[in-house]
Amino acid sequence: MRFVDASQIPELPLPFMNEDHAEEMRLLEGLGEALEAHRARTGGLETVLERLSLLAVHTREHFLREEQVMRETGFPAYPQHKGEHDRVLAEMDGEARAFREGGDPVRLRGYLFETVPAWFVQHIRTMDAMTARFVVSRPGASGAAAV
Ligand SMILES: [Fe+2]
Ligand SMILES: [Fe+2]
Repeated sequence: MRFVDASQIPELPLPFMNEDHAEEMRLLEGLGEALEAHRARTGGLETVLERLSLLAVHTREHFLREEQVMRETGFPAYPQHKGEHDRVLAEMDGEARAFREGGDPVRLRGYLFETVPAWFVQHIRTMDAMTARFVVSRPGASGAAAV
C-alpha cells in the first residue's frame, strides 16, 4: 500500500474486526489514489468525493459493529470506546465538509494520511484490542479465532 502502512495494524482475535480494519485501509488507499489523480489532473473531483463518502459510511458501520458486540457482552469500558468512535466520526465529517466547501487537498491529505492512520493504529492497539480480548475471554464466546 502506498498511503497507509497496514503492517502496523495488529491482528485481533475477532475476525470481523480484522475484516473491518482491512477494509478501512483499502478504502483509505483508494481515496489516496483518487486524491493523487485529482492533483495530477488525471482524475476528477467526483471520484474523491465519492470515495470520501464511502469511507465515512464504512467507518460508521465498522464502529457500530464493535459497539453492538460491546453492548451484547457488557464490556465495561463501552462509554470510553464509543466516545472515541463518536469523536472520530464527528472529526471525519468535519474534514469532509471542509473539503467539500473549501476544496483544500493538502489539508485533506494531511488528515487522511497522517491524523487518521496514527489514530487508527493507536485505537486498534488499545481499545479494540482490549475489547476483543474481553469478548473472546467470556464463557461460551463464539466467533473467535486463534491468532
Ligand atoms: Fe476497530
Ligand atoms: Fe473501535
